[in-house]
Amino acid sequence: MPRHENLTYWTEGLACCDAEWEAAYNRFETPEEEKAKFLRRLKGLGVADLPRHLRVADLFSGRGGNLAALEALGFEDVSGVDLSPELLGRYRGRAKLYVGDCRDLRFADGSMDLVIVQGGLHHLPELPADLSKCLAEMVRILAPGGIVLFVEPCDTPFLRFVHACCHVKLLHRAWLKLDALAEMIEREKATYFNWLSHKREIRALAREAFDPVVDRSAMGKWYFVGRKK
Ligand SMILES: C[S@@+](CC[C@H](N)C(=O)[O-])C[C@H]1O[C@@H](n2cnc3c(N)ncnc32)[C@H](O)[C@@H]1O
Repeated sequence: MPRHENLTYWTEGLACCDAEWEAAYNRFETPEEEKAKFLRRLKGLGVADLPRHLRVADLFSGRGGNLAALEALGFEDVSGVDLSPELLGRYRGRAKLYVGDCRDLRFADGSMDLVIVQGGLHHLPELPADLSKCLAEMVRILAPGGIVLFVEPCDTPFLRFVHACCHVKLLHRAWLKLDALAEMIEREKATYFNWLSHKREIRALAREAFDPVVDRSAMGKWYFVGRKK
């Protein structure tokens, strides 16, 4: 596998998702659609009101939709981490990129002010152990008063409706986005449904690690903003 020049490798050869999952993820939304979605969420959760000099770690960065949204908001010091060099290699922008495992970050203690995950924690294979590892790493790298922000899937009536639609093959032909989503869910189903079934435990762990500022679910998503205790 050729190395990407703009990436710093903390690990190599680890992957969570197969090539078919990555292909479905790449066709689910265009990078522009994804950036606009992440930007809306960041603004909705108050990130646009934060000082732009904050040191930001974006975890589970994928192809960098959230990195692009942070850049659009004017954040100057942004680092992205993902296991997949192929996905990180698609990002074009100023953020520093690290190929690594978010359960084992190599950032120094207290070196970040804001940690963001927009869709990544639900890929963790072992719950609650892997989530505890990630949360402990976030606490470690955050400076006093640091902030975390998560947006992850959540079992709500809307999500159940979407899952039901995923089973209607006719809809896949009319709505290619649903086809891509169904493919992603099928290929990540072990971790995805495990995540959805641990809703209460996950929230409890997040609240134990951070003082909650926002903790709500709506339209199939869990939104959490917390401060380092
Ligand atoms: C849905 S994508 C994330 C989308 C992304 N947040 C964005 O802004 O576009 C989930 C990503 O999590 C990554 N991933 C899964 N487990 C990981 C781990 N333990 N450490 C780092 N990245 C991981 C996958 O490689 C995948 O790119």
